[in-house]
Amino acid sequence: MKYPTIDTLDCADKTIFVRVDFNVSFDDDGNVRDDARIRAALPTITELQNKGARLVLASHLGRPKGKPEKKYSLLPVAKHLAALLNVEVIMPDDCVGLPVKKLVSELRDKNVVLLENVRFHLEETENDDKFASQLAELADIYVSDAFGSMHRAHASTVGMVKYFKQRAVGRLVEKEINFLSKVLHEPPKPYVVILGGAKISDKILVIEQLMNVADKIIIGGGMAYTFLMAKGVAVGKSLVEENKISNAKRMLERALNKGIEFILPEDHIIAASFDNEAPYKTVKNGDDWGDWMGMDVGPVTLSKYAAALEGAQTVFWNGPLGVFEMPNFSTGTMEIARKLSEIKALTVVGGGDSLAAIKKSGLSEKFTHLSTGGGASLEYLEGKELPGLKAVL
Ligand code: 3PG
Repeated sequence: MKYPTIDTLDCADKTIFVRVDFNVSFDDDGNVRDDARIRAALPTITELQNKGARLVLASHLGRPKGKPEKKYSLLPVAKHLAALLNVEVIMPDDCVGLPVKKLVSELRDKNVVLLENVRFHLEETENDDKFASQLAELADIYVSDAFGSMHRAHASTVGMVKYFKQRAVGRLVEKEINFLSKVLHEPPKPYVVILGGAKISDKILVIEQLMNVADKIIIGGGMAYTFLMAKGVAVGKSLVEENKISNAKRMLERALNKGIEFILPEDHIIAASFDNEAPYKTVKNGDDWGDWMGMDVGPVTLSKYAAALEGAQTVFWNGPLGVFEMPNFSTGTMEIARKLSEIKALTVVGGGDSLAAIKKSGLSEKFTHLSTGGGASLEYLEGKELPGLKAVL
């Protein structure tokens, strides 16, 4: 790994600004719904605490419009973190300014400060230099452990970093880069990639990159219908990106030329409307779908996917294979989650929806790595340099 890690830091008695990604959702009672991103930052936090550092944590939450809004406050996260760490998590009502500086200077022992949402200031997303320097004044060292935000060139992820001589990536970022670079550059073979999700346009660059290394590519979800159209299969009223059919044709051709097995659905669960309660039935490619739409892959397709996964040494999965939020159309996605939890391969999953599906299946522990980054993991797999990562170099 070419980025400085926390092993390189001289932390004793220093104050460290740790940018984390605590952008989580809350339930109806205002409690943290899924704490995976908070737990993922704990190794860095506890390691730095044990090395004698004082910690100032910072994150964004949601997309507030540059001013404080209660629903975007990090207060529930502070409470949750305090319970996980078993220390006091002190939370000022802002992220910059004199009272915040005073609080930070009074930090003792293993207690930590969690700053209020950095996006309560418009200057955060504008990467304003004055705001960045105000954040930087709070600490001696900068650590970035916010993998999910590394594709954002904002003040707390990029702008402030230049003010620090000592800077590093945290343990979560190390782990993310380690697994994502493996599936992008040097996967143990055979290597199967599973891609789903609604749109082909979000994934074109990722598919292009992964075609350099994959042995088989399984396609499901809404994007499969654009590929099927490219092959001349009629798909009723299914979601099709007409302006991407030529891209789909090119990808199919490239796969053929490179000897990559490109596996598309052969049967489908289609419904009369986009509704869990709508009537539904199973059809094959070539059947008349009328004006019904594809909602999930069918049983023949699932057996084909399962067969393609036999013997795989690496599997990367991004995107659900059907409308998994609706119980009647969740079988394809849940079955793939189950299958991947059973095989003996390096299994890496990226993207918010696939993660939500795995969480729903209760099988999270059975995967090698579940990326905490949605947009960030996709941009990394597109071969782009993440600004937050570059800044730490
Ligand atoms: C995410 O949830 O993907 C990250 O926290 C980034 O959030 P953003 O898309 O609002 O920048």
